[in-house]
Amino acid sequence: MKIDILTLFPEFTDSMKTWSIISRGIESGLVEINSVNIRDFSANKHKKVDDYPYGGGPGMVMTPQPLYDALKGVNSQNKKTIYLSPMGKPLNQEKLMELSKEKELVLLCGHYEGIDQRIIDNYVDEEISIGDFILTGGELPAMVLIDGIVRLIPGVLNNEDSSVEESFSNGLLEHNQYTRPEDFMGHRVPEVLLSGNHKKIDEYKIESSIRNTLNKRPDLIDTDKLSKEELEVYKGLRSETNK
Ligand SMILES: C[S@@+](CC[C@H](N)C(=O)[O-])C[C@H]1O[C@@H](n2cnc3c(N)ncnc32)[C@H](O)[C@@H]1O
Repeated sequence: MKIDILTLFPEFTDSMKTWSIISRGIESGLVEINSVNIRDFSANKHKKVDDYPYGGGPGMVMTPQPLYDALKGVNSQNKKTIYLSPMGKPLNQEKLMELSKEKELVLLCGHYEGIDQRIIDNYVDEEISIGDFILTGGELPAMVLIDGIVRLIPGVLNNEDSSVEESFSNGLLEHNQYTRPEDFMGHRVPEVLLSGNHKKIDEYKIESSIRNTLNKRPDLIDTDKLSKEELEVYKGLRSETNK
């Protein structure tokens, strides 16, 4: 997958190329990340990229010319183009899975009060938000998006850090995780995980996963999506908590 990031801070977005799993994806040729400085495309003699908003109001708005030329420079008309914006659809794991199947992506990072609406209306395919809060720029949201996408590209993660059993992958939060030592300051790992009994371990994982989802994110549970076994455990735990 090739990802072009259009930004005013290319050194910042480029820094993610050294992150462990991202750099592994780049080294194995599965991912290419290209940070493009929007300012390089400004036709203004002072390389200005912002101006006052029409109609008044606080702050500045990114002007359309440098954005248009930067988009043209990466051939965005033939690629899925995403503007990171607090007004976008909230990002979730399903969206990351969908995007991980794209061959090419263009990510547009705004600054100041945002970008001229005509760029969004005419040259952007989708707006994505990373949550209901305002950051100063689109770089961190773009990096969040890339981090989430790259680890889903087949071949980037090895078996040891596989994404198959993770939270959200089946509509549930993940089960509790433990590692060595068996006893830490008197707190023991659940005995079943040390038993070697794979059936019992699988049952523990299902129960822990459903318990976590019920306790922390009950809004995620869609009983139509649960397997027969998961549904049984879910009903048992529900009746337990209703007692
Ligand atoms: C200060 S924000 C602009 C906020 C805008 N004035 C508003 O009220 O919606 C500057 C830039 O940061 C990025 N940004 C800020 N918060 C974001 C979020 N939650 N998700 C995605 N991008 C965000 C966008 O690219 C935006 O253009």
